[in-house]
Amino acid sequence: MPTEYPALTTEQKKELHEIAQRIVATGKGILAADESTGSIAKRLTSIGVENTEENRRFYRQLLFTADDRVNPCIGGVILFHETLYHKADSGALFTKVIKDKGAVVGIKVDKGVVPLAGTNGETTTQAFADFAKWRCVLKISDHTPSRLAIIENANVLARYASICQQNGIVPIVEPEVLPDGDHDLKRCQYVTEKVLAAVYKALSDHHVYLEGTLLKPNMVTPGHACTKKFAPEEVACATVTALRRTVPPAVTGITFLSGGQSEEEATVHLNAINKCPLVKPWTLTFSYGRALQASCLKAWSGKKENVKNAQEEYTKRALANSLACQGKYVSSGQGGAAAGESLFVSNHAY
Ligand code: 13P
Repeated sequence: MPTEYPALTTEQKKELHEIAQRIVATGKGILAADESTGSIAKRLTSIGVENTEENRRFYRQLLFTADDRVNPCIGGVILFHETLYHKADSGALFTKVIKDKGAVVGIKVDKGVVPLAGTNGETTTQAFADFAKWRCVLKISDHTPSRLAIIENANVLARYASICQQNGIVPIVEPEVLPDGDHDLKRCQYVTEKVLAAVYKALSDHHVYLEGTLLKPNMVTPGHACTKKFAPEEVACATVTALRRTVPPAVTGITFLSGGQSEEEATVHLNAINKCPLVKPWTLTFSYGRALQASCLKAWSGKKENVKNAQEEYTKRALANSLACQGKYVSSGQGGAAAGESLFVSNHAY
């Protein structure tokens, strides 16, 4: 017979739940700044900046030191392993800079080279980060995702989540259904439901304490190459319906990835999701990479004199998404340099 949450004490559960709640407190979401060295290379190359460690540090410093207007918008920041050890010009570790602004530090651990995967890794991670992220990817085509891919990825996520919790770390569980393809909204909803149902069955099998977890799903959207357009309310209804059918109310928060949507689209969809009249027992917020950073990167373009403008662009997106996660966003039609630009990358790796 299964035992209930055998690995966690009441204190451990309380701590995990509190961390998860802090990340998705009212008006807050997550800045995903965890691009791997390969992914950030593409972003930097697009603005003519060389992918050196110093340029990566400098750009991330720009994000993490944006002024205090972002503090009520950002509850957590996900870092790539290298960034965990970087310092601001002031000499303070980025992890301290982020914590001093009231956000929780997280780390992407789905690459095999990061702390949880190595022998000494668990201890190292614990010293710096309070939450972690693991991303699995599923693709829609006529014959995929297969049952095997759905079950295997769900199990990997559940095993990771269980290991995190045993080490006092809140796991963000990210089963991303990619936007690649010409499928319509209905097909994305169907696949997303099957994937999420398998994930929650696996999390239960692995005795994961759901109150101490966050889910990072894709929104239910038509495939990138689908010719039919759907209104934000349709995307919102399909997304909330899929989540209501599969995600237990015990889950503390749902933090969507932006998945190649434009900055403005990702904000408008998040707002529509929060305004959707169906009952939604979880906090529904953002954990955006591209949709928080695209205009900021463009404005920076690798030039020191542009830092202030770039920080302003990032702050604008943070404020807009903070409103959207409360269903209070009204589009002004005046976005930043990349606001309406599709951020789709085929077969996206992070
Ligand atoms: P995007 O918001 O750019 O899709 O990325 C978020 C993320 O962390 C993907 O793993």
